Amino acid sequence: MKKIIISPSILSANFAKLENDINSIEYAGADWVHVDVMDGHFVPNITVGPVVVKSLRKITRLFFDVHLMITNPEKYWHEFQKAGADLITFHSEIQSDKRKLIEDIKSSDIKVGMSIKPKTSVSEIEKLIPYLDLVLVMTVEPGFGGQTFMSDMIPKIEYLRKIIDRNKYKCLIEIDGGINSQTSHVCIKAGADVLVSGNYVFSAKNPAEAIKFLVL
Ligand code: DX5
Ligand code: ZN
Repeated sequence: MKKIIISPSILSANFAKLENDINSIEYAGADWVHVDVMDGHFVPNITVGPVVVKSLRKITRLFFDVHLMITNPEKYWHEFQKAGADLITFHSEIQSDKRKLIEDIKSSDIKVGMSIKPKTSVSEIEKLIPYLDLVLVMTVEPGFGGQTFMSDMIPKIEYLRKIIDRNKYKCLIEIDGGINSQTSHVCIKAGADVLVSGNYVFSAKNPAEAIKFLVL
């Protein structure tokens, strides 16, 4: 069986005790840390910027999975790379030159991903999949943690899995939004490689157990 990567989203962590919360998920067996960056423009919420990533880089060796929900990633991605991001995922719905952005991020020696919102179909990004390390499928409307998983996104995950396997692309499928111990299994069955989970992991009394149930 392939290894499923777990990437807890710190959006649901206690921001007054971020170091504690990150240490506790690291100890609990998380593989990555998911950092949700929102600009109040691409999505109706504002979160953190590169200074937070830079500070966190000093307290953990976990892989930093940075999800940019911002209108102009071409303007800001480099700051996140310098701050210590290992993977930068931007949204396919932006107006910028996506092919160029992919090449620019890749040439800085970190991984690059592209995300699709619930209303965006796989066919809209299909041509770019060969150049990507990861496609992030949103299973809620981006902007807030703690929302309900949209099960009608499952066929999208299955379709993406087929395309990647058929063409032998080296591209991971990440799922983000409403992931808990029930929805995780449906996503794994549909072909997910990476699961983001915010509210479920950080509201659990025992995060290690919560993480274990995501893949059991
Ligand atoms: C939503 C974010 C998600 C979110 C996941 O816009 O991209 O990463 O925080 O949180 P849960 O697991 O609570 O839906
Ligand atoms: Zn996210």
